[in-house]
Amino acid sequence: MQRSAASRSQALTFPGAALSKAGDRHYAAAMAITLPALPYADDALDPHITAHTISFHYGKHHAAYVNNLNGLIDGTDLADASLEEIIDAADPGGLYNNAAQVWNHTFYWESMSPNGGGAPSGDLAAAIDSSFGSYDAFREQFTADAVGNFGSGWTWLVKEGDGVAIVKTDDADTPIKHGQTPLLTIDVWEHAYYLDYQNARPAYVAAFLDHLVNWDFAAANFAA
Ligand code: FE2
Repeated sequence: MQRSAASRSQALTFPGAALSKAGDRHYAAAMAITLPALPYADDALDPHITAHTISFHYGKHHAAYVNNLNGLIDGTDLADASLEEIIDAADPGGLYNNAAQVWNHTFYWESMSPNGGGAPSGDLAAAIDSSFGSYDAFREQFTADAVGNFGSGWTWLVKEGDGVAIVKTDDADTPIKHGQTPLLTIDVWEHAYYLDYQNARPAYVAAFLDHLVNWDFAAANFAA
């Protein structure tokens, strides 16, 4: 686990992230892209997502995307750019894939909480009811999309007008590239769940919704 990187986490710009207090954008832009600290201990999501999975998913996969990205921007005119600026500027390919994966994973960790799971409340709950008919209908569609995303990708809840919508992206693709406002996400790459669930992606998606999803984070993003 690359804990050493945690002490110099980059400023994050999504509103629901507690880590967004870590610095301003000017400061962030003056640094290389860094691996943000996890918002909880590496065993905090156990048994639904174990520390073993976190050690690879955060400590190896997420860290590798950060390292790859820094190698790709080093010496270029994007060397001092923010992560969002890199994503905005990048064409399809390695630069975009690594930058988007850094952003997506940071957003994913924030989308979960040791005290998460269950149904949302407040304005976000009302928006889900308005857009899907009910929380149960949202859950059914979110589950079907997350389970049914063929291959590697992500399933997102995004803001759409005054309401919300579910979006699937393939591989590294991220909604912020397409002008959408993500509220929460689940990583459905096999590396997110294979050590804990093997091929049982539906069990991983159910655990995410029942025990992990951070509705406070999503609500803060929705309200921003
Ligand atoms: Fe992942």
